[in-house]
Amino acid sequence: MSEVAVTRRGAVLAIGFDRPQKKNALTAAMYEAMAAALAEAHADEGVRVILFHGSDTAFTAGNDLEDFAQRPPSGEDAPVFRFIVAAARATKPMVAAVNGPAVGLGTTLLLHCDLVYAGDNARFAMPFTQLGLVPEFGSSYLLPLVAGYQRAAELLLLGEPFDAQRALDAGFVTRVVPAAETIATAWAAAEKLARLPRRSVELTRSLLKAAHREATLAQLQVEGGHFRDMLREPAAREALAAFVEKRKPDFAEK
Ligand code: COA
Repeated sequence: MSEVAVTRRGAVLAIGFDRPQKKNALTAAMYEAMAAALAEAHADEGVRVILFHGSDTAFTAGNDLEDFAQRPPSGEDAPVFRFIVAAARATKPMVAAVNGPAVGLGTTLLLHCDLVYAGDNARFAMPFTQLGLVPEFGSSYLLPLVAGYQRAAELLLLGEPFDAQRALDAGFVTRVVPAAETIATAWAAAEKLARLPRRSVELTRSLLKAAHREATLAQLQVEGGHFRDMLREPAAREALAAFVEKRKPDFAEK
């Protein structure tokens, strides 16, 4: 059974993370499905807006760490990387509804979205250094841009969790709403966008993104190379093993 629910309502295509027992952590198979859904959305003229959502209690816990430990992505054709490139190249507006955990890619995806609604129960984190890794999805470029260097450095270097108000202050959340209303609020915004003239919305988005598009794509390639290398190094191996074994990692000498 697919753990990515792709639904279509009018001109909105919704990509839903649907693996509740693992807080919607993303496997290679799920990235495949997400990349395919983005391709479908772009191939279909009738789709005007893309919406990402989880449930009322979890957006996504980010990369599945067991999957990562067992099958580390090895090249640019890995499903996770194909999804990242497709989302960064998207030309249709993307809306997100975020509740509960939004970890790793669950946060960095939002830097590419246009409208981001966060429930008051949302909990963000980019714990890359805690995992012996580096930022991905262009976040080392986009986060300083939206949040300012010092705020971005704290979030990316320490990698600690933070709440919706802090994400709003950091500039990558559009609005904080009661958790039970997040998904409906995001749908309403997506449908409102979908009723506007398609070409005008797409061109406006393209103009908004233009100044940083090429630099973002270049940075996510550089990050991807480091990320794949770092996954094989002792610190990440230790962090992933510690997660699976439900213990604290030991980074002494790493
Ligand atoms: N990969 C694989 N499994 C994950 C996961 C992930 N990223 N995140 C959560 N899970 C699993 C847990 O192992 C647990 O499985 P189990 O019930 O079989 O033991 C289940 O999902 C529920 O998670 P739990 O930790 O009990 O929920 P919580 O509400 O206490 O905490 C998180 C939620 C997301 C804060 C916490 O699970 C977490 O920090 N996960 C890791 C996030 C991460 O580092 N992602 C990678 C970023 S690059």
